Amino acid sequence: MSRRDLMLEEMGLSPVWRLRHESVDQPSEAAPEAEPPPSAPAAVVDVPQHAARRPPGTAAATAPRDVGSEAVPPPSSDANADEQARRQAISRMDWDALKAAVANCVACPLQAKRNTTVFGVGDEHAPWLFMGEGPGAEEDATGEPFVGQAGRLLDNMLAALDLKRGEGVYIANVVKCRPPNNRNPESGEMKCCEPYLARQIELIKPKLIVAMGKIAASHLLGTDAAVASLRGRVHEYRGTPLIVTYHPAYLLRTLPDKAKAWADLCFARDKMQALIEATGKS
Ligand code: URA
Repeated sequence: MSRRDLMLEEMGLSPVWRLRHESVDQPSEAAPEAEPPPSAPAAVVDVPQHAARRPPGTAAATAPRDVGSEAVPPPSSDANADEQARRQAISRMDWDALKAAVANCVACPLQAKRNTTVFGVGDEHAPWLFMGEGPGAEEDATGEPFVGQAGRLLDNMLAALDLKRGEGVYIANVVKCRPPNNRNPESGEMKCCEPYLARQIELIKPKLIVAMGKIAASHLLGTDAAVASLRGRVHEYRGTPLIVTYHPAYLLRTLPDKAKAWADLCFARDKMQALIEATGKS
């Protein structure tokens, strides 16, 4: 048995995650046909402003639940102008400037309790972009996304596609700071991080985005639809094809849906192949 097979088996993923030849291994729920991109690109949300100030429109949404911050006053027009300027500046950043801006960001209450920001990791011109929601405790300690248990599953999912962290793949999260107690990121927090994410994606220029879980899918597609209803179609984020699947942490808790996630990965692999053939290069 290969090292990968052993690893998959150890994670309880074999034989569902055995590689290739779906006729043998693909679960009964076959990956649906690709459809024309249905979703409008995610709206550009007007967000945070000057680094030291709290973003407009986030007062209610980010009213800090457990980060111990004070209430946020409604945004003034000055604050809105500051925020527009911040967004404009971010939209022009190169990689180094963007990384520095994220590392020093104090735009939302999540900064108060983070140990470190988690920018993202991988090939900066990767064709594949896997998107999670936000760092957990281990990511907050190490600065790298998906290094905990869910990360090990993600690595196995990548291996099933013949992919490896850092090689042709970039992994990022919707928010760059850990939401305390592993809660979901709040909408205001996601709005604050949105210009960073948008610029990151613009710089990577992935061929295909795989949104893992409802938070990533909702944020990138601007919809509140469930993952189950978004799977099996090709969506679009600002012109980039996007496929939705389950979050690895959810899969760890919900074994039966691993088969569906496998179908999603096969679908994504086929879509990537078609994209490569369409552009004539990998
Ligand atoms: N879950 C995520 O969505 N991202 C991580 O980086 C880790 C766990």
